[in-house]
Amino acid sequence: MTEIRRVGVLGCGLMGSGIAQVAATAGYETTVRDVAQPVWDKARAGIEKSLAKFVEKGKLAAGDRDAALKRLGFTTTTADLQRCDIVVEAVTEDLELKNSLWRELDARCGPATIFASNTSSLTIAAMAAATQRADRFVGLHFFNPVPLMPLVEVVRTVTTSEETFRRAFAFTQSLGKDPVAAKDTSGFIVNLLLVPYLLDAIRAVERGVGSVPDIDKAMQLGCGYPMGPLTLLDFVGLDTTYRIAEIMFTEYREQRYAPPPLLKRMVLAGMNGRKSGRGFYDYSVDPPRVIDLGV
Ligand code: 3HC
Repeated sequence: MTEIRRVGVLGCGLMGSGIAQVAATAGYETTVRDVAQPVWDKARAGIEKSLAKFVEKGKLAAGDRDAALKRLGFTTTTADLQRCDIVVEAVTEDLELKNSLWRELDARCGPATIFASNTSSLTIAAMAAATQRADRFVGLHFFNPVPLMPLVEVVRTVTTSEETFRRAFAFTQSLGKDPVAAKDTSGFIVNLLLVPYLLDAIRAVERGVGSVPDIDKAMQLGCGYPMGPLTLLDFVGLDTTYRIAEIMFTEYREQRYAPPPLLKRMVLAGMNGRKSGRGFYDYSVDPPRVIDLGV
């Protein structure tokens, strides 16, 4: 059994950069592949900011922060991931895009390399089948913000070997995470339950049940959630949620996964939440201000 020493990450958006950060902090040589330098620059700046917060709070020594940043490299080519012992993919929820990257890597990586997808709604089987290593393919579903959220869903599909599952599970523990095992069904455990709740919150806005801040406040104070559902939607990204809902609706054909029209309109308008500056709230002001959606 090869020891995991080098970690590859495909994609350095919100999730990929968080995964790269925790891997580098845990002591792994980490190489992140994304399409262009401006994307890396943004990711590196986010990672530096997050690590600075940990240092500020005394949760990480300044020397360990510097060492983590030294272990972190960026590249545009999958060839630079060929020596990795595990590759975690966190690109857009687009099966064709994911599988084209997996096929490239499958030809490049050695037989011991584990492939892991951070997909939130696609089935692992659909990616494993695109490679010659379906037994060494697993799902590792992290949560946003990755450096703070302790959970990882470790997803075993029908072809995943027991050894791969065990190694992937232990890998997440070595990152300081507290994993659970989940079956390969769209949405796994968390999104199966969370996505209908988030979509229902949008339906509540459409129906005028309460104002956006009141719906958020109600769920925060009434249920003890750290964030209200509309704030959480802005945090996760409305475009991401829309894509997840579409995939889950196609899979289950159940109304509760159907993206509400308001979500679609907001995504079409580029109101993708915090990352685009506007969603249910306007983030150009501090504190963020609720946006009049005209509903
Ligand atoms: N790195 C380091 N520190 C961070 C950070 C990061 N990325 N993000 C926030 N922090 C720090 C803040 O600076 C703050 O520090 P302070 O106490 O010194 O001020 C501290 O963490 C707490 O943050 P905040 O005061 O901003 O707010 P909260 O107390 O609400 O905590 C939170 C933030 C942990 C994000 C909390 O609000 C939370 O748990 N929210 C819910 C998140 C959630 O549900 N995530 C899952 C989304 S679903 C998903 O990812 C799956 C996908 O498939 C859709």
